[in-house]
Amino acid sequence: MADHKTYFDIPGEKSRELLARRQQFVARGVSSTMSVFAAKADGAVIEDVDGNRYIDFAGGIGVMNIGHSRPEVVQAIAEQAAKYVHTCFSVMMYEPYVALAERIVQITPGDFPKKAIFFNSGAEAVENAVKIARYATGKPAIITFDNAYHGRTLMTMTMTSKVKPYKHRFGPFAPEVYRAPFPYPYRMNMTPQEASDYCIAELERMFVGEVAADQVAAIVIEPVQGEGGFMPAPAGFLRALKTLCEKHAILFIADEIQSGFCRTGRMFAVDHDGVQPDLTIIAKSLAAGMPLSGVVGRADIMDAPPPGTLGGTYSGNPVACAAALAVLDLFEKEDYAARSREIGHIITHRFSQLQQRYSLVGDVRGLGGMAAIELVRDRATKEPDAHAASEVLAAAHHRGLVLIKAGMYDNVLRILVPLVVTDAQLQLGLDIFEEALSVVAEPRTATSVS
Ligand SMILES: Cc1ncc(COP(=O)(O)O)c(C=O)c1O
Repeated sequence: MADHKTYFDIPGEKSRELLARRQQFVARGVSSTMSVFAAKADGAVIEDVDGNRYIDFAGGIGVMNIGHSRPEVVQAIAEQAAKYVHTCFSVMMYEPYVALAERIVQITPGDFPKKAIFFNSGAEAVENAVKIARYATGKPAIITFDNAYHGRTLMTMTMTSKVKPYKHRFGPFAPEVYRAPFPYPYRMNMTPQEASDYCIAELERMFVGEVAADQVAAIVIEPVQGEGGFMPAPAGFLRALKTLCEKHAILFIADEIQSGFCRTGRMFAVDHDGVQPDLTIIAKSLAAGMPLSGVVGRADIMDAPPPGTLGGTYSGNPVACAAALAVLDLFEKEDYAARSREIGHIITHRFSQLQQRYSLVGDVRGLGGMAAIELVRDRATKEPDAHAASEVLAAAHHRGLVLIKAGMYDNVLRILVPLVVTDAQLQLGLDIFEEALSVVAEPRTATSVS
């Protein structure tokens, strides 16, 4: 980043032209955090069409764990595309799908026979995990959590917690979805253990007051809540939840879409707690940007729905499967889990310093390289400061850092930096982050971020 400038006047001219076309022809329902357009990307750096180069702390929302434009992945995509792009697995099968299923069952948690099936998006995989769970158990109800995010389709939107912008005016929602509290020690004013105990007790109460346990097909949980604000399940909570599931014959489904593939310092976030989910949902960093998702789990459960009940035209596309196989080769060769722990340590150390300096920083949390800070107006009341979060974002973008938010109150700054980021890039990104935070946190008399 020797050519790194300290302040970008964005959007630049070319981005402004594209923005005008976008505003005319693209529906506004799809929003964009930044006002610039990408030209190329490499590792943990993205360049926009006006030549501005950014350290990427978002990784396309947790998709680029192995980095942008890895030659091994690009080559696998090109070679597969040259052979055939699509036959539809439901019409004529192809080897990359089978090879990927073989590899995925080996690396996902669970020391029992497993099978896998592939889809396109994360939401589609969640939908199908629910279908499989319902078919296998013959039960209708699904339990999800406060602050959960599972996607934007009807079922996954229903399972998602945050109302605006995800659900507002998009009802009626799917039936038989119940919501339990998720341990969020910071906002529950509890220790992690107290929050965990409370949430397990609440589930037992739900079985009395809301839905009979024998009607519940599955509990679906993000081991580290993503969109909801980067809340890791406290140590031991997932194990306690699994025990509760076993007691009531309920399937335990881990949504590892954002937390998987070494993001949290282990291959999957449930590994921290030694939990073996009945089904695991994967997407995002599985195929380094190619649209691919999957459900993997106990062979008997996965085989419950009969032939023809699952799938889709593009599901498990061969080019996407080839990309995923190349990604898995990289995960085998390099210890990204260790790198994620290292990155997480560096980030949270810096964030803790910022917390000491600025009262705006209410909470610092995360697991490995999935780290975040939560901004508040007042530490005593914990009133969320979404406005400050937006200001920090804009200041960061202008200084060459791709940064995104999360949180029920839009006040969480989250890091999903590609795990191939160099130490120098990471430090530069954190320097920019710190500067962006300081211009917002220091006396609001600062009239300009330039
Ligand atoms: C935990 C989790 N589940 C599901 C989804 C939905 O995935 P997709 O956007 O690919 O449909 C996401 C996306 O951010 C996610 O983070």
